[in-house]
Amino acid sequence: MTRWFTNEHPALRQFWHPVARVADLGGPGPHSIRLLGDDYVLVKLDSWSVLPAACPHRLAPLSAGKIVDGRLECAYHGWCFASSGTCVDIPAIDSGSTIPPSAHLEAAARVEEQYGLIWVALDEPLTPIPVNPEWDDDGFGLAVIPAQTWNASAAQMADNFLDVAHFPFTHLGTIGDPNDLVVGDYEVVRDGWSFSAEHHHSSKVLYDAQSGETDSFETFHRTMTFRCDAPHHVRLHIDYGDDGDLVLLFFHQPVDDEHTTMYSYALAENIADGRQQPEDHIAFQSEVGREDRELLEQLVMKGVPLDPGVETHTKADKITVELRRVLADIDKLSR
Ligand code: FES
Ligand SMILES: [Fe+2]
Repeated sequence: MTRWFTNEHPALRQFWHPVARVADLGGPGPHSIRLLGDDYVLVKLDSWSVLPAACPHRLAPLSAGKIVDGRLECAYHGWCFASSGTCVDIPAIDSGSTIPPSAHLEAAARVEEQYGLIWVALDEPLTPIPVNPEWDDDGFGLAVIPAQTWNASAAQMADNFLDVAHFPFTHLGTIGDPNDLVVGDYEVVRDGWSFSAEHHHSSKVLYDAQSGETDSFETFHRTMTFRCDAPHHVRLHIDYGDDGDLVLLFFHQPVDDEHTTMYSYALAENIADGRQQPEDHIAFQSEVGREDRELLEQLVMKGVPLDPGVETHTKADKITVELRRVLADIDKLSR
């Protein structure tokens, strides 16, 4: 039977995933979140903490509770939890009584804030949160693309964002040059749990691509540098020539086997120098994303097959074949 790499793969516990945009949370919580098919509560006590969604007493949702004196208090009978998950108070028993060991919650191993997002590793992570130096570079201006939840797996979305052969077809209405079909030779370089590739191809010039022009448009040769950081975070560095460099970041939250929430950013030199507004990039990237989403959501299986015989690969697909190798390596962690 074919094995599939899906959003609920148990080995994903050992990697970092974004679970919320801090600006969207509106406060310390508690907030409900869903990751790898399970429900959790996200709350900021002494620091951000991710705990199981259900109180161990009568399984009330801890997201209905409140923060009292730096602890999370359950709304039902007032049990209180520290950010470590330790149950520190059960009001209905006198203070000399023992708190049962099963009253304590298992907190996520690591929670951090980076790129305006809350990142979670349920178990001790094997890799760091992806590094993107342009984030702190004044030469790049930021466009925050609103978070979106797609009916696809994170691995499928990474597969799509790394794909070098689909531009003239899926993206004919935006970036795709219909006269540039053949994918030239390129190398993929693996570096531990990451890999990258540089790809040269023809694309519509930025302003024609943004206008959605399909009849008359100018093209130019651009260089795209792809990087994928395990498990399935993608970075694209695009050299737009005179229009400056553009870095696109795609961070994926594997919500459950049917859904992935994508947190995406455009970092652009032409925002920093005032030639474009963040809104221009948000509108354009949202349209490019819509083209991908429309296709991806039609795939019946919400995963990437781990058996190489299920799909057919060509030399144009080297980069997405490497993704499958990384996914296979992640799969081995849990076997
Ligand atoms: S259900 Fe949470 S304290 Fe009882
Ligand atoms: Fe695409």
